[in-house]
Amino acid sequence: MNPEMNPQQQAQARARIESMKQQFEQKRAITDALSQIKHKVGVYSGKGGVGKTTIAVNLAVSLAMDGANVGILDVDIDCPNVVRALKIAEQPVISEDRQMVPPERFGVKVMSMAFFQQDEEEAIIWRGPMVHNAINQFLQSTEWGELDYLVIDLPPGTSDAPLTIMQSLDLDGFVVVTTPQELAQIDAKRSINMIRKLNVNVLGMVENFCGEIFGKGSGEELAKEMGLEFLGRIQMKADYLDTSKPTVLNSNAVLEEFRHIASGVQSGLAEGVEAD
Ligand SMILES: Nc1ncnc2c1ncn2[C@@H]1O[C@H](COP(=O)(O)OP(=O)(O)O)[C@@H](O)[C@H]1O
Ligand SMILES: [Mg+2]
Repeated sequence: MNPEMNPQQQAQARARIESMKQQFEQKRAITDALSQIKHKVGVYSGKGGVGKTTIAVNLAVSLAMDGANVGILDVDIDCPNVVRALKIAEQPVISEDRQMVPPERFGVKVMSMAFFQQDEEEAIIWRGPMVHNAINQFLQSTEWGELDYLVIDLPPGTSDAPLTIMQSLDLDGFVVVTTPQELAQIDAKRSINMIRKLNVNVLGMVENFCGEIFGKGSGEELAKEMGLEFLGRIQMKADYLDTSKPTVLNSNAVLEEFRHIASGVQSGLAEGVEAD
């Protein structure tokens, strides 16, 4: 350490080095925990309520139906709904080496922030640094085993939480969800620009809630405008009201839509590998 620094400066320098070391170790622990996963795909939107969880769950289940090993990671801190969508009653099991082993449902391994909530109604109001630590802890401690795909349900917006996750997870790509009403809104564009700044591949865009009520087409226009792949449209349907299981297991028409999106995701990932 520079001998010309006063004791206060020396203490500050030591604290900085310590914190850098911690960050480095944390990042390495996360990389280790995720090392047996071939593809990590985030599902993301600028706004809540556009169908992110629905799409993450049905995409994961349709990939598993095709024989892939799939996990789903729910890091939507404020609204961790994946556990509810998959009707999971059991908690993760703690392994001998103190890692959490995710429960499996409909052929998909599931880990969610919701497992650590006392009560489902309780809103999680965490401030920045806590969010950061909780997410990192969570990422380090899950034992996924070998996976072909990990689908990640991200928090919406451009705040701390999605940023931390995007930075910590080293994602291979994103699926951005929009709705037919979103063309005029700056949200979707802003979130895509944020992802692009982080140098993560945007695999493409999905337009949800298409049909008579909201119309269709603006997701595709937005994709074109932003120079992105259009992965497909999802119709607004009453089939989603049956919440006993993911809708791809109840409706062939919905399964078709998700198979189409899954194949676009797979080609996007293959291109991403070529581009590396
Ligand atoms: N294509 C669709 N047709 C009908 N209902 C849908 C569709 N997509 C999502 N939903 C419903 O809309 C609500 C919000 O969806 P959700 O996936 O929770 O959004 P987000 O995760 O973006 O907040 C849920 O009740 C879900 O069942
Ligand atoms: Mg959600």
